[in-house]
Amino acid sequence: MPHADSSLVPSTIKTRAEFWAHVHDQLSALIDGQRDWVTNLANASSLIYNALLSFEPFGNGTSAVNWCGFYIDSTLFPPPKFTSRQTSVPAGASRILLGPFCGKPACQFINTTPGKARGVCADAFLSGKTLLVTDVNAYPGHIACDGETNSEVVVPLVLDLGDKRVCLGVLDLDCLALGGFTEEDKAGLEKIAQLLVTTCDW
Ligand code: SME
Repeated sequence: MPHADSSLVPSTIKTRAEFWAHVHDQLSALIDGQRDWVTNLANASSLIYNALLSFEPFGNGTSAVNWCGFYIDSTLFPPPKFTSRQTSVPAGASRILLGPFCGKPACQFINTTPGKARGVCADAFLSGKTLLVTDVNAYPGHIACDGETNSEVVVPLVLDLGDKRVCLGVLDLDCLALGGFTEEDKAGLEKIAQLLVTTCDW
């Protein structure tokens, strides 16, 4: 099967639970044999975004998903081999950096320094809990990368090391509709996030 076809959604899939189980299985096959997180998150954002657009609840005009991607702890990005100047992250600051995504351009990074952080992604990252936001305009500190977005779901990527749990970043999805995402979407995305956490090296 051509790689692109993994984002097609068969017409037999009717419910959100069936949809997410299908996407999970397609992703598992797509990333098989690869443990590089950039490569796998790139394919994951494309697969999820394009599959959602082929699935009726999300593919239709004003209720379409309009962004799907990752923000990853900046310390996990490999250090540059070559640079013409120093990078300047203030001492003591922490941030998640824009990673692989599909959709329109988005903010480069999000401040996750406790006490200074704001927004849905930072809150999900710092709490390690999924945030299902039915109306982003009512969410204190929401960062509007696209004024057309009305709802959002952010799932933390949490790695269980036995003695501690480390949040690696977040998977973020935006929707044009108010209340675009449901508890079923949250459950499906959390399984996908765990698949990515355990099938990549960080
Ligand atoms: N809305 C997010 C920012 C990221 S964009 O939606 C892609 C937030 O409040 O953290």
